[in-house]
Amino acid sequence: MSVSIDKQDRVAVVTIDNPPVNASSQAVRAGLLEAVAATEADADIDAVVLACAGRTFVAGADVREFDKPPVEPHLPDVIAAIESASKPWVAAIHGTALGGGLELAMGCHARIADAKARMGLPEVTLGLVPGAGGTVRLPRLVTAELALKMIAGGKPISAKAALEARLIDAIATGDLLEEAVALAVEQAAPRRTLGKAVVGAINADAFDKTASGLRRKARGQASIGAAIDAVERGLHLPADAALAEERATFLALKASDQARALRHIFFAERATLADPRAKQAPRPVTRIGVIGGGTMGAGIASACLMRGFHVMLIERDEASLEAGANRVRGTLDSSAKRGLLPDLDAVVARFGTATDYAALADADLVVEAVFEDMEVKKQVFAKLDTVTKPDAILATNTSYLDVNAIAAVLSDPSRAIGLHFFSPAHIMKLLEIVLPNAVSEDVVATAAKLSKSLGKIGVLSGVCDGFIGNRIMSAYRSEADRLLIDGATPEQVDTAMRDYGFPIGVFEMQDMAGLDIAWAMRKRRLAEGKITGPYIRMADRLCEMGRFGRKTGAGWYDYSDAGTQPSEVVMSIIAEERQAMGAEGSSFADADVMPRILGAMTREAEAVLAEGIARSADDIDVVMVNGYSFPRWKGGPMFAARINGG
Ligand code: COA
Repeated sequence: MSVSIDKQDRVAVVTIDNPPVNASSQAVRAGLLEAVAATEADADIDAVVLACAGRTFVAGADVREFDKPPVEPHLPDVIAAIESASKPWVAAIHGTALGGGLELAMGCHARIADAKARMGLPEVTLGLVPGAGGTVRLPRLVTAELALKMIAGGKPISAKAALEARLIDAIATGDLLEEAVALAVEQAAPRRTLGKAVVGAINADAFDKTASGLRRKARGQASIGAAIDAVERGLHLPADAALAEERATFLALKASDQARALRHIFFAERATLADPRAKQAPRPVTRIGVIGGGTMGAGIASACLMRGFHVMLIERDEASLEAGANRVRGTLDSSAKRGLLPDLDAVVARFGTATDYAALADADLVVEAVFEDMEVKKQVFAKLDTVTKPDAILATNTSYLDVNAIAAVLSDPSRAIGLHFFSPAHIMKLLEIVLPNAVSEDVVATAAKLSKSLGKIGVLSGVCDGFIGNRIMSAYRSEADRLLIDGATPEQVDTAMRDYGFPIGVFEMQDMAGLDIAWAMRKRRLAEGKITGPYIRMADRLCEMGRFGRKTGAGWYDYSDAGTQPSEVVMSIIAEERQAMGAEGSSFADADVMPRILGAMTREAEAVLAEGIARSADDIDVVMVNGYSFPRWKGGPMFAARINGG
């Protein structure tokens, strides 16, 4: 039974039970309509509490139903039935009341939540706008500006913030259900949200400022603009008209490619670790060692500390150790300032530093993040082999070196694994879990569990040069170079990428990261004979001139106080290289840029899949979206290939 009714004296407790997240599926909607009819008809009932079993209040519509035609009863009709009931309904919220869940709660006549509950309308993140009255009811409970932030920004708010904003009437101090029943008894009559006027005088300047900030960040994601428009209609149109338009927008967006892509990524992200190897019993991990206190190592140490682990940071000398420890403390301090670390002292108390590897004797897992050089990494692993517990897991954060070769220096290579974090490691969501041939299954399972404990999305990758992400990334970098040879300009390529939805173009990104790093890597790979095919020398020539990007004031572009400018030097290098390679092109059509970039990404993604480096096309999409800023609402290169190419 998805919906049941239990009587507590003269109050009916209507409970939704639809695991895992009480999504408002068809059975739930039908059950709620029946509950309205039953409680209305029951003369022994004065009021109703709407509650949920399990871990959360209704966390939204059942997203799996979105690819099918809508089935009656529709959620707006269910909410209308609750709102117009003659007996007061009180929502008792625990866990997360999201999307349709919060819309249901707003259709009730009063709301109480437990202190840990969160509430929001995250539909924009699925390419939608609320479809069951959210844009019309929310501005009748909270200010226009907060409604805009919640609906077009998509971020949930805490129970405390909800109480301050008067979205809810109370926070339970003891048992949520008991207090909800008490609140229901107190209700003299239904207070209907749609019967209220919108809240207060609208501060048009603040509203417009927030709206234009959100539009800027949307980068082509349609739902954000649509959500802003819907909130404006919710504020200014009569409720009936606004509701009808909201529903029409919701249905139109639901069928759009962007919404399909966002649903695809939503489920793909939740399926990356559905692999038998990740399902074994994990080894216990509480103490983590991190070797190297550079940007990456310090970021990894911070990420682990912030999620409750003990961390021992190792550096080769006192000066480097002090610098590394300061990086970690800086990250922790700024996270604490942003309210993300309620108990900074407790976090700092779990942080240790040492120059002697002996301090790793009790570590359960060690991640090395030293200089990206095979010999250096092998030396670190050889040392770890002798100082750590025999069952401690030894991980390398290399972004492209052969993890099998690093594992081979251990007396027991089954405890070696790759953990490829992305910078800044305490923020970026992706963690590539790289599996060398000898890795034992419980080591894979431990890495999978660690990714979850760190709040990251773990994706399993085989060993190859660059793993899943950097392989595809270097394919599209090379294609961008070829585009220049074929007549495009760096500006043209970057503009096309931004227009597609990337936050930054490929050349701007190289300037940001520093051209010297990739240059050093190319030199090594050339020496190792790993670069084959025609070699395009433009980036090397820029580096030979000291044009390393932003940090030197020049790279693919010139940087000055006046801003970013195209560079004549670069244009003449491109012209010379075009000539040297016998290329004819001197111009290139804008419309042809993205198909070439996407084509190169897709071809490499297909190769990565065919070689068994990635477990599935979905995993590749998750990697590109979370590690490489591929626009989420396009779904990732493999999804794009499927929708564009069938
Ligand atoms: N519809 C269908 N299935 C859903 C769902 C939804 N709205 N929300 C979550 N699920 C499923 C997940 O796919 C997952 O299934 P699985 O166990 O088979 O992989 C399961 O519920 C648990 O979700 P998960 O995200 O892993 O749990 P969590 O505890 O980390 O987070 C939520 C719970 C509710 C916060 C999170 O799932 C979420 O944000 N859901 C989407 C909410 C939303 O956008 N609602 C508006 C819809 S219009």
